[in-house]
This record gives sequence, structure tokens and C-alpha cells, in this order.
Amino acid sequence: MSAISFLQVSKTFVTSRGPLQALERVSFDIQEGEFFGLLGPNGAGKTTLISILAGLSKASEGRVTVLGHDVLKDAAHARRLLGVVPQELVFDPFFSVREALQFQSGYFGIQNNHAWIDELLESLGLADKASSNMRQLSGGMKRRVLVAQALVHKPPVIVLDEPTAGVDVELRQTLWHFIAKLNKQGHTVLLTTHYLEEAEALCSRIAMLKAGRVVALDTTSELLKASASNVLRFKLDAELPAALQAKARVTGRIVQLPAHTALEVEAHLAALRLAGLVPEDMEIRKADLEDVFIDVMHQHSQGEAA
Ligand SMILES: Nc1ncnc2c1ncn2[C@@H]1O[C@H](COP(=O)(O)OP(=O)(O)OP(=O)(O)O)[C@@H](O)[C@H]1O
Ligand SMILES: [Mg+2]
Repeated sequence: MSAISFLQVSKTFVTSRGPLQALERVSFDIQEGEFFGLLGPNGAGKTTLISILAGLSKASEGRVTVLGHDVLKDAAHARRLLGVVPQELVFDPFFSVREALQFQSGYFGIQNNHAWIDELLESLGLADKASSNMRQLSGGMKRRVLVAQALVHKPPVIVLDEPTAGVDVELRQTLWHFIAKLNKQGHTVLLTTHYLEEAEALCSRIAMLKAGRVVALDTTSELLKASASNVLRFKLDAELPAALQAKARVTGRIVQLPAHTALEVEAHLAALRLAGLVPEDMEIRKADLEDVFIDVMHQHSQGEAA
């Protein structure tokens, strides 16, 4: 049985500027035990899809199930199977961390949850903050509490909407260690993130959304195989020639150019030489998920223009 199934899910928001189609016939299944990544640029529809999954928003069309339970017709059951870490930091400022977790347990009708709450606090580096008021916590600490809150009822399906946004390196490692452990124990994980190296390291399968549509869906290794195999990387203090500009990923003075073959590397170098440019610190590396992502998004904008 699928852990999560999205079947032809569409969502149209009514806005003051007219209807806005945030999702267009999104269909894919996530199997039990998978660590699945949902990627896409800002506004692609990731949070909208997760809100529909969590029963917080209603699809205009289509159907979503969690372990076979329809999120609308069987909402209470579906909710219990899910633990959702929301993108927005929402919390009750009057509770302490421990109270917030006890309250959330109560919501699911769980009593005597102390051992698991202690384990959550410990695993998420919150043990010394247990009696702090939620108001007093820093942004990153609040996010840890949101993660703990989503897990109080040990849900078989864990959904994380950008859990590492604004989170320091240490917590990211703690968090991934903990989530990976839960995944090994059989929990299904659906993750959205803009940190593509995290997605590459953690997710076995990935869906990419663009403007509400699924534009790529495959195992992480297949996605990596299908893209440009190499990247030529160098530093440059001048403007790139126009022909290279169109293909390049530029961050400050770092330029990265996809290259499928050695011939293509040669062609890039020749273009630089012709323009009288001297690249520094040159290297060739294997393409990563960020290259694939840029490639896929680029292809689809060309498709739209055509
Ligand atoms: N309540 C709403 N009313 C109107 N439009 C909305 C609403 N919520 C989201 N949208 C629009 O739907 C689209 C998808 O938004 P969504 O928040 O799902 O994107 P996202 O992929 O989560 O982006 P991000 O990476 O920035 O979190 C955007 O164009 C957004 O402006
Ligand atoms: Mg979002």
C-alpha cells in the first residue's frame, strides 16, 4: 500500500487578481518506508500540496490518501497517521516546551507520553529548554519544537516542509541523524527543502514541481545519471561571453558550466580563450542535484516559451 497517494490533485486559489492555479493534476505515490524529496522553486506549490495532504486546505479536484485513508472522507484517521512540520513558525507563546508537547499528545488522546517526549527533547537538543517558555526561544529552537510536536504521536508518515530553513549546521546534522533513524525504523518521510545537497544525500526518490506541475519524478540516482555528467568550474573576474552566459550557473565570480563530454569542455575553454578571458582555479567535477534541478527547471521554461 502507498504511504501517500496524490491522484490528479489540482488547486485553484481565488485572488483579487483572478484565479491562480497553484497545482495542476499532480499525481504520484510515495511507498511505505521511502525517504522522498519534493523540490521546486518558490511558489511551485509544495506547501499547497502539503496543506492538502494535512487536511488544512481542500483540493479543487483530485484525491489524496495516507496509508489508504482519504484525507477528506477519513480525515481524523489520516491525521493520526501523519506528522507534519509546517514551514511557518506557529506556536502558542504561553506554553513551555514540555507543556506544548504534552498538549499535542493530549490532542491525539495519548497519555503518559513522558518517555517519548524525553527522547524527542534529547534527540533534538531541546533537553535544557524543556521548561523554557516558547516566547523565549530563538527561531532555530522554535523550529526544533515544531519538529518534536509533529512527532509526539510517533506517526508512521512524517512530512517536513523546509525543516532546516534558518537552522544552524549543528542542528541540521542532529535533525537529519534523527529523521534518518526514524526512516530506518520504517517511518515514511516526505521532505521539501531548498538545500539540494541535503535532498541528494537523504532522499531515495524525488519529485520536482514547477508552477504547480510535476516536471521530474525519479530515483535520485537516475536523475543524476540523466543530467550533464560533468561540470567545469572556475573563477572569473570578467563578464562571460554571451554564448556561455546562457548555459552557466554563476555565483559571484564562480562560474559553473555543464559539460556532457570532453569535447564540450574543450569548446567552453576555446570560447573563453577567444574572448581573451583567463579562468582561475579551474576544476572539473561530477554533476550534482543542484545542476539537475537547474537543468530541469531550465528545460521546462524553454518548453513554455516554445
Ligand atoms: N492562500 C492562498 N491564496 C492565494 N494564493 C496562494 C495561497 N497560498 C499559496 N498561494 C499561491 O500558490 C502558489 C504556490 O504557493 P506555495 O506556498 O505552495 O509554494 P511553495 O512551493 O511552498 O513555495 P516556497 O518554496 O516559497 O515555500 C504561489 O503562487 C502562492 O502565491
Ligand atoms: Mg512552501
